Amino acid sequence: MQDPLFGNKVAAAILTALLLIFGLPQLTKALMGGGHHSDGELHLAYGGDLELDTGGAAAEPEPEVDLGTLLANASAASGERRAALCKSCHTFEEGGANGTGPNLWNIVGRQVAGHAGFNYTSALKDAGGAWTYERLDHYLENSQEYIPGTAMVQRFPRDEQRADLLAFLQTLSNDPVPFPAPTPAAAEEDAELDTAEEALENEPVEEAGDADPEVEE
Ligand code: HEC
Repeated sequence: MQDPLFGNKVAAAILTALLLIFGLPQLTKALMGGGHHSDGELHLAYGGDLELDTGGAAAEPEPEVDLGTLLANASAASGERRAALCKSCHTFEEGGANGTGPNLWNIVGRQVAGHAGFNYTSALKDAGGAWTYERLDHYLENSQEYIPGTAMVQRFPRDEQRADLLAFLQTLSNDPVPFPAPTPAAAEEDAELDTAEEALENEPVEEAGDADPEVEE
């Protein structure tokens, strides 16, 4: 009352204090309730949002590729190299001896736990049926999880590596079992897969940073 500018002075003092405490960008942001382009923090946050929107396609977790597609792209030669570590327990050739594990000639399509002269666990015997590529794929991915109690302990978490192994197992026969057909949709996606992977490697965060000119000045 005594000073007609008292209110203004108080406001100015508060503003100055806030400025000192928070700095201009944050204050502008707080007062305007919106974004300012020069605000580094906000910039980042915006980049994060963008990443979700535009980076969505590229940043998606790798799409599940069906086994047929994986097998169509698999390399029996790589599989054979990888299968070196099976050899401590298995033989691969026709008429080969059983070792710690059974001989694996003709394994695809063979009865599960069906090789003569090998003493299988009841866990594997109880599994029943024949070995398909799908079942072998599960068994090799995590044998203990797929058939709890089986004597073999193997884990190949990478889809492509298992596909290579399966492509090698296919060759262990005079009459190889054909691979399952790739599902059509997946086959198309597969063509785009490389592009998607490349995009992933190009770090969508940076792309998002470049893409912010829409932000109001
Ligand atoms: C340390 C030994 C060992 C290694 C290494 C090993 N296996 Fe085995 N495997 C076994 C044993 C033991 C069994 C029998 C399991 C049972 O009776 O439960 C078996 C069973 C199997 C079977 C089922 C056979 C049938 O007749 O039903 C397949 C298929 C198989 N192994 C594939 C592989 C492949 C492929 C590799 C290499 C990537 C591999 N194994 C590495 C020990 C091993």
